[in-house]
Amino acid sequence: MTNQKIIGVLTSGGDSPGMNAAIRAVVRTGIYYGNRIFGIKRGYQGMIDGDIKELNLSSVSNIIKYGGTFLKTARCEEFYSREGREKAYANLKRFGIKSLIVIGGDGSFRGLNDFINEFPVQGIGIPGTIDNDLYGTDYTIGFDTAVNTALDAVDKIRDTATSHSRLFIVEVMGRNSGYIGLYTGISGGAEEILIPETPSDIEELCKRLDKGHKRGKKSSIIIVSEGDEAGNAFDIKNKIEKLVNWEIKVSVLGHQQRGGSPTVSDRLLASILGYEAIIAIMNDENGKMVGLVHNSITLTPLKETWAIKKEIDMKYVKMAEILAT
Ligand code: F6P
Repeated sequence: MTNQKIIGVLTSGGDSPGMNAAIRAVVRTGIYYGNRIFGIKRGYQGMIDGDIKELNLSSVSNIIKYGGTFLKTARCEEFYSREGREKAYANLKRFGIKSLIVIGGDGSFRGLNDFINEFPVQGIGIPGTIDNDLYGTDYTIGFDTAVNTALDAVDKIRDTATSHSRLFIVEVMGRNSGYIGLYTGISGGAEEILIPETPSDIEELCKRLDKGHKRGKKSSIIIVSEGDEAGNAFDIKNKIEKLVNWEIKVSVLGHQQRGGSPTVSDRLLASILGYEAIIAIMNDENGKMVGLVHNSITLTPLKETWAIKKEIDMKYVKMAEILAT
C-alpha cells in the first residue's frame, strides 16, 4: 500500500490513567487505515535500547480499563544527549519507523520536539499527564481519574475529620500546576485551597478557619498542591501551628493519584485523541499535539504546549472561596 506509514508509539514521563486507552486507539485506528504500528517500550529509553515490537489488533485487547501503561514508561536522562537521540534514531531506522506518536507531558514533548528537529521523523503528541498543565487542550488524559481518586480520599478524610472535629491538610499532586488542587478542593467542599497560581496568606487563612470554627464548623480541610509557594503540607502545618493552637493532621495522597481504572471521561478523551493522532499523522501534520478545546479537535505546535502557561480560571478560585464560607 503506497500511503502506508510505519508508526511508532510510546508513553513517556509520569504515567496517567487512560494511557492504555490512547495506545489502543492509536493501534486500532492506525491498522484500520492500513498502517503498521510498532510499540516502543519504556518511553525514549526503549527507543535507545531498541526495545520495539510490532503491535496487532489483539495486542491491545482488554487494556482500555486498566490504569498505568502496558508499554511502560520512563523519565529518560539519556535522551537529553545528542548521542542518546542518535542511538534512538538508528533504531527507528532499523524498523523502518518514520512517524512517532508520543503520549506524555511537557518533558516528553520537549524531547519529541528536539528529536524531530534533528532527524527526519514525523512527530505527533498526545497529552497524557494527571497534572492538566499543557496548553492546547482543555483536559489531559488522566486528570479526571486523578481528581476523582483525590476526591474519594478527601471524602473519606472528611468523615474522620468531622468525627474528631479536626483540621486536615491534604496534599495533592500537580507539580507546578494547581488544577488537581482546585478541582479536588471545589468538589470536596474544602475550606481552603492552596495552589501555586495564587498567593497563600497563612495568617488570613487562620482567621477564616477560626471564623468558621466559631460559627460551628465541625471540621476543616485544607487542600494544598505540592507546588504551592508556601511549601508542602508539613511546612504549612508548621506555619499554622505557630499562629494557633489546633490539632492538625496531614495526609499526603501521593502516587495513588496516578493509578486506578480510568474514568469514562478519560477513556473517551484518550480514545478520541488516539484516533485523531493517527488522522494527523496521515494528514502529514508534524510537530504538533492533538487536543480537545471546547469540544473541537485542535493541533497545537509542541513548543506552545509548555511555553504558553495554561491559566487557571480565577473565576473558579473566587467561587471556591465563596462556597467555602
Ligand atoms: O507529572 C505527573 C506527576 O505525578 C506530578 O504531579 C508529580 O510532581 C510528579 O509526576 C512525580 O513524579 P515521579 O513519579 O517521577 O516522582
